[in-house]
Amino acid sequence: MMKHKVIIDTDPGIDDTMAIAYAIAHPDIDLIALTTIFGNVSVEESTQNALSLLDYFGQQADVAQGETRPLVMEPKPHSYFVHGRNGLGEVEIPKSARSAVDLSAAEYLIEKTKEMPGEIDICAVGPLTNLARALEIDPTIAERVKTVSVMGGAVYRPGNVSPVAEANIWNDPDAAEKVFAASWPVVLAPLDVTTKVVLSPHFFADLEEADPKVGKLLSDMARFYARFYRSHSGINGCIPHDVMALAYLTIPGVYMQKRGALATVTKGPGIGQTIFNPAGKPTVDPMWGERPQHIALLDIDAGFFAAHYFDTIARRSPTEIGD
Ligand code: BDR
Ligand code: CA
Repeated sequence: MMKHKVIIDTDPGIDDTMAIAYAIAHPDIDLIALTTIFGNVSVEESTQNALSLLDYFGQQADVAQGETRPLVMEPKPHSYFVHGRNGLGEVEIPKSARSAVDLSAAEYLIEKTKEMPGEIDICAVGPLTNLARALEIDPTIAERVKTVSVMGGAVYRPGNVSPVAEANIWNDPDAAEKVFAASWPVVLAPLDVTTKVVLSPHFFADLEEADPKVGKLLSDMARFYARFYRSHSGINGCIPHDVMALAYLTIPGVYMQKRGALATVTKGPGIGQTIFNPAGKPTVDPMWGERPQHIALLDIDAGFFAAHYFDTIARRSPTEIGD
């Protein structure tokens, strides 16, 4: 089987780190690069974290630094209260001596998709500014990307930063709107699906035992993340949001998927809201029928996903579960 050639657009971030670790551990993924974005932390901190995480995981993938601020609106404060002062749950890892490549994230996405047309999967797990910028610079990028899987939005449930908005979309709604309006194959992993999976402290204790390097790092970070979830939502554990956008590439069958059009509210009290109109659902407003059809992931086999994540990180075959 051909490996998925993946570029992760990311703001690491604790669950971003969980996704990066999954990309590196999964045998069917060839991680080409991390492109960085502001969001959980500043873009400079994202870049430093991306480089240091790759070193820690023993990986040489490229890092390209992205946009410093949203397309139109004023930047929102970073989410240090969720991901810690360094974005990595205040877990210290050695600083990388490597640097980012000489292209911006948007330029890098454009160049790589020219080099390998039809082969690159972009997995975007932060605000969508880099992707929107790439579309602005070269709209033909839309024809060269294999899939754009995105962690973001809240379709049929409340948001996590406002009654209707999810953080990644809210941090740059104008960029999200550009990405959803483009004719490329977007697969959205909204809060509807991501919040179905809660990884418990017990899960991470076992993961740490199974893998004293990567498992331990994730477990240490998860301890910080879990404190936020406990105080904020009364959940015992943490939600690996970003992994679910990436795992669509490797285990698409575990998701309940629906085709339809996506749009974002870019002004007013509903700013950052993600709206979904299922394919074939008639609307009086013709706009909905004219928009590109994408995929929203709306449910998941949470038990399977958790076991699969564990096995992938611990590099165990599924039969070893329970040994
Ligand atoms: C998203 O926001 C960030 O805090 C997480 O990394 C994830 O991408 C969840 O709303
Ligand atoms: Ca993220």
